[in-house]
Parts: sequence; C-alpha cells; structure tokens
Amino acid sequence: MNRDIDHVLVSQQQLQDKISELGAQISRDYDGHELLLVSILKGSVVFMTDLMRAISIPCAIDFMVVSSYGGSNTTTTGLVKIVKDLDQDLTGKDVLIVEDILDTGVTLSHLMPMLRMRNPSSVKICSILSKPSRRKADIEPDYKGFDVPDEFVVGYGLDYDEKYRNLPYVGVLKPEIYTKA
Ligand code: PRP
Ligand code: MN
Ligand code: MG
Repeated sequence: MNRDIDHVLVSQQQLQDKISELGAQISRDYDGHELLLVSILKGSVVFMTDLMRAISIPCAIDFMVVSSYGGSNTTTTGLVKIVKDLDQDLTGKDVLIVEDILDTGVTLSHLMPMLRMRNPSSVKICSILSKPSRRKADIEPDYKGFDVPDEFVVGYGLDYDEKYRNLPYVGVLKPEIYTKA
C-alpha cells in the first residue's frame, strides 16, 4: 500500500464488484435509448473507463472540464465555469454524468441546469462515491457506488494536490500529509 495512505476505505475488488452491478443496471435501464456518458474531468477518468466497459449496450462518451468559482467555499453560491465543453449535441440524448464523488453537490447542481437547456431527453448522475454529510445542494446520485464518511479520501481518480489519482483503491490520506503543507 502507498505509504501516505492511512487505511483503505474501498478496495479494488469492492470497486470492481460494484461497477459490474452498476453497469448491468445501467444497461437494463437505458436499453433502447441513446446513452451518452459524460465524464467530468479529471477525477472521474478512472471510474469512466471502468464503467463504460461494464455497460453492455451501445453508448457514446464525451468529456467536460468545469471549474468552480465565486463565493467562498463555505457558501452555497458557487458558480460553475465550463473550461472545456462537450463535443456532442445533447438534443434527444439520454445523458449520464459520470463522477468520482458527489461532495457538496455544488458543482453538479449548477452544471445540470446548464446541460438541461440543451434539450437532452434526460440527465442523470452516476457517482462511484458520495459524501452525504457534506451536501449543500439538494442533489443525489441516481446511481451510486459507496457512501464515504467525511474524511480525506484519495485514489481511484480522487486527488490531493493532483497526486494519488492512480491508486487502484479508495484510501484515507494520513493527516500528516495535508497538515504539513
Ligand atoms: C472534485 C470531484 C468532483 C467535485 C465534487 O473535483 O472530482 O468533480 O470535486 O465536489 P462538489 O460536489 O463539492 O461540487 P475537483 O474540483 O477537485 O477537480 P478534479 O476532478 O480535477 O480533481
Ligand atoms: Mn472532479
Ligand atoms: Mg480534485
């Protein structure tokens, strides 16, 4: 295990088992629909590549980069700026947003109305992790992997200072790593 990790929260095996379930459920729910998976970079990239291979129906993929700004991080008035937009037109598509974690929910609560204005058939959320205790916006994932406690989680796409995204499990960072900064 990485020496900066205190303990593993969700193992590689637990992730893969859950993703198989999610992929099967999504394949049933969207059968016959024009499914478009939208990965919000960068955190979701690992989950996206696993999830898309667990989906057995035709689907397209696209990527988006957003940045939150405005207000302090203790307010609910954050805005979302699109740094890199989707390539595809959303008209008539069933959009499934793929995320690594739904934390305060502020990012997606601002992004979803922006996507809905493009006339998709539907917009839903699939997040491998959720931190319900941190929620500020009234938003929940439609498809969810695991609830996690309010701890500093990294790995499986999640970073601290751009590091640890490549860990194949979700772990809790040792406090000494982020307190010494
Ligand atoms: C993280 C995470 C989600 C978002 C969730 O991304 O990957 O996209 O924050 O936060 P929220 O629910 O409180 O809005 P981050 O902005 O750190 O960018 P990254 O994915 O490039 O790491
Ligand atoms: Mn992210
Ligand atoms: Mg991040």
